[in-house]
Amino acid sequence: MVYIIAGASGVLGSAIAEDLSKNNELFLIGRDKEKILNMSEKYDCKYAIIDLNNPLPQREFKNVVEPDVEIKGLINCIGSILIKPLHGTSIDEYNEVINTNLFSSFYLLSTFAKRMKNGSALFFSSVAASLGLSNHEVISAAKSGIEGFVRSAAATYSKDNLRINAIAPSIMDSNMSKKILSTEQAIEISKSMHPIPKIGTYNDILPVVRWLMSNDSDWVTGQTINIDGGLSKIKPR
Ligand SMILES: NC(=O)c1ccc[n+]([C@@H]2O[C@H](COP(=O)([O-])OP(=O)(O)OC[C@H]3O[C@@H](n4cnc5c(N)ncnc54)[C@H](OP(=O)(O)O)[C@@H]3O)[C@@H](O)[C@H]2O)c1
Repeated sequence: MVYIIAGASGVLGSAIAEDLSKNNELFLIGRDKEKILNMSEKYDCKYAIIDLNNPLPQREFKNVVEPDVEIKGLINCIGSILIKPLHGTSIDEYNEVINTNLFSSFYLLSTFAKRMKNGSALFFSSVAASLGLSNHEVISAAKSGIEGFVRSAAATYSKDNLRINAIAPSIMDSNMSKKILSTEQAIEISKSMHPIPKIGTYNDILPVVRWLMSNDSDWVTGQTINIDGGLSKIKPR
């Protein structure tokens, strides 16, 4: 029985891999062969390399996890961010954001869903899907797409007791946010946007991932759980 973690070499992916590896067998997916190979040695697990620009057909890709292995969990941590005025955003940038965030989610779930009876799949949205933040149009479109995708897929596969959910964080310390949080002033502005003023970390996310992957959440499906210091829903005076 394995838990697939895609985007395993990112900040959140690595933290989830470390956490789940304590009690479970992993299967890692990523784009950087060296990083993923190092992790697979560390966790003594199998892996596959993904190329979102030239993906294998799903019927081939699904066999990267041997057919007799039960897939208990699928977590897609592949993602990116683009904060840019819409009128200055190129078609290539749009395609890249949609491909990395939304297509990766479609590709992974369409590949593995039929093999995940009684399992749990998890995708990452963003606060930008439920709150209109200026210059976030493209990432908002991709992450809103993930939330709709999750609801529909949760309905389709509920008959297999496959639960499908999303987590929507606000800004967290990670590789993709480095540029945005590159000065003390930027950090302070970002913090102050949040009703609970701080920058998130993977430690804010891990307990919810653990819960969604466990049977303790066995009546939870089709949901997006916002972990964002209240930013998406509340406005204190
Ligand atoms: N950090 C935030 O502020 C924030 C906020 C809201 C939502 N999220 C979401 O949370 C999830 C995890 O992100 P993170 O914070 O862990 O960021 P991260 O450290 O930058 O990790 C992003 C992951 O996506 C992979 N990736 C990016 N482009 C790819 C491509 N074209 N093909 C294959 N893999 C690709 C990266 O691979 P490499 O390791 O090879 O680079 C990395 O594993 C993402 O879905 C992100 O959108 C993050």
